[in-house]
Amino acid sequence: MSIAICPGSFDPMTLGHLNIVRRTSRIFERVVVLVMVNANKRSPMFTIDERVDMIKRIVSPFPNVSVETYDGLLAEYAKRYGEAVIVKGLRAGTDFENEFQMAQINKTINPGLETMFLTSSEKYTFLSSSVVRELAGYGADLSDFVPREIIDEVLAKAQGGKKNG
Ligand code: PNS
Repeated sequence: MSIAICPGSFDPMTLGHLNIVRRTSRIFERVVVLVMVNANKRSPMFTIDERVDMIKRIVSPFPNVSVETYDGLLAEYAKRYGEAVIVKGLRAGTDFENEFQMAQINKTINPGLETMFLTSSEKYTFLSSSVVRELAGYGADLSDFVPREIIDEVLAKAQGGKKNG
């Protein structure tokens, strides 16, 4: 069975992420959305458990997509699926260096592990979780940026975060 792992910090999942997961689910028989820690991203908006819960609701219409979490190395996690391939979205300009580096490091740790990239859809090229967090802090309309299932939660979390300082 062909298996793709779509890893990310998903804080929160955006429509750009969902677009990549949806397209990946048409290419591979099974897709695992893997919620992970990005050591470079401090002070997350959502806990890992909250992110897993939100993504499960978002991807529930896709029968071949599941959601997992792992707090170790991606290259080690992938070993449990043998032939799994990492699939990530690549946005114009911003992602290349970082993604290239991660793919090379992952392959050094786990030589059998391939990373494939899907180019982001044009309308999501400049979308990121950090932009969503910023917009949410201003109470902006998020309907063009995050899946409708989580709009209220993202706004509530941003507003709650303000109250707490
Ligand atoms: O959505 P992000 O933040 O760009 O995803 C990056 C992520 C979480 C996939 C990356 O930081 C990662 O793989 N973290 C797990 C720990 C790991 O394997 N680190 C080595 C990266 S070379």
